[in-house]
Amino acid sequence: MTVADGRAGRRGGAPDPGTLDAAERMGADELRALQLTRLRWSLRHAYDNVPHHRRAFDAAGVHPDDCRDPADLARFPLTGKADLREEYPFGMFAVPREQVRRVHASSGTTGRPTVVGYTAEDLTTWAGLMARSIRAAGGRPGDLLHNAYGYGLFTGGLGAHAGAEALGCTVVPVSGGMTPRQVQLITDFRPRVLMMTPSYALTVIDEFERQGLDPRSSSAEIGILGAEPWTEQMRGEIEERLGIDAVDVYGLSEVMGPGVAQECVETKDGLHVWEDHFLPEVIDPVTGDVLPDGEEGELVFTSLTKRAMPVVRYRTRDLTRLLPGTARPGMRRMARITGRTDDMIVLRGVNLFPTQIEEVVLGTPGLSPHFALELTTRGRLDHLVCRVEARPDCPAGRRADAAAEVTRGVKDVVGSTIEVLVVDPDTLPRSLGKLQRMTDNRRRT
Ligand code: DLL
Repeated sequence: MTVADGRAGRRGGAPDPGTLDAAERMGADELRALQLTRLRWSLRHAYDNVPHHRRAFDAAGVHPDDCRDPADLARFPLTGKADLREEYPFGMFAVPREQVRRVHASSGTTGRPTVVGYTAEDLTTWAGLMARSIRAAGGRPGDLLHNAYGYGLFTGGLGAHAGAEALGCTVVPVSGGMTPRQVQLITDFRPRVLMMTPSYALTVIDEFERQGLDPRSSSAEIGILGAEPWTEQMRGEIEERLGIDAVDVYGLSEVMGPGVAQECVETKDGLHVWEDHFLPEVIDPVTGDVLPDGEEGELVFTSLTKRAMPVVRYRTRDLTRLLPGTARPGMRRMARITGRTDDMIVLRGVNLFPTQIEEVVLGTPGLSPHFALELTTRGRLDHLVCRVEARPDCPAGRRADAAAEVTRGVKDVVGSTIEVLVVDPDTLPRSLGKLQRMTDNRRRT
């Protein structure tokens, strides 16, 4: 079976149909009807209660009553991260602050963080969707679940935690970091399910090996990995070295947090969007036009049930395609995210994403999945250096060939030339959560 066909889970299987939520069993028509009712409510809720949305709708000359079909949504204004920043901290809330039970915020490396809020009902919905996601990944009530997503303002830790409890799992709330202790807890507590970013899964696998332990002999059977872009090649690496089924989980704080879309373990063919709560569109990132299903562009979400902070056509900056449902036939899938519009490297006029380099590096014998990218200026041109660690068993004589193969592979796939330096094992910084692969050291003129 090829990757495109999907790969049936080896350890996790399809859930008993009787345990699925009603929406997971709906056909497309029934789901569309439910979406329309909820969409009309959500647009009205946003218009009536959030001054920003009322102003934006009025300026675009649309009213919630104009939405008679999901396709009418295209007439409504898009919302961006900048809009949320302008309304910092609580201006996007549609309910009095006293009704907000929790806030989360994006890390916001520059400028103000983006603040999001949840009513008690929103938190219940989120936990239910995250429970649905864990079940789709192969998790079951009674499983022990090791949660290494960061706890705090980041939605990963607490979001996954509440979902796991709602499903009936025993949660180990480890959070990220202190990797030797993660290995100890996995060895001693024997979790069946691991939740962490894919890059951190690699850090944990390396730590097992550093301690002289075989990661494949760990109790873990399922990894629910997300919060950053990763590739099929990376899935293969993690599944092979850890002996698990690794499935993709997607979400973003502005739309809810983890659990907006989830890959089903029985098909492993992209992520089903939980369309009873979120309406996805894909737009051309430049013109803003809606693209037909199947075409790649920027993913946009409208929330259908959120109370504290409804979002209307929120631009995620994530690039993907919408595909027909498979394991949950009524719900569309989104393909694995190729990258974010802001992670796109424009190298001498050619667009390049770190995931494209990841695919080539992982397909090159002798190289480990640990690599870092640095953008510099050489002469008047941008220059990209990729430092990649050799695998410990890579013969010294192989390194130069491996570097040349990556340069050639990237040139073939993307069309631009990068410099590749193969460095010693264990010399590049390790991920503790979301990995930042790129450093921009270009000269500013
Ligand atoms: O990363 C929520 C999350 C936590 C998702 C744990 C999955 C697991 P933010 O910090 O708001 O929320 O970052 C959202 O992370 O717009 C994507 O660019 C990226 N992202 C999230 N999941 C994936 C994924 C959480 N599966 C941003 N593949 C999103 C690729 C992802 N990128």
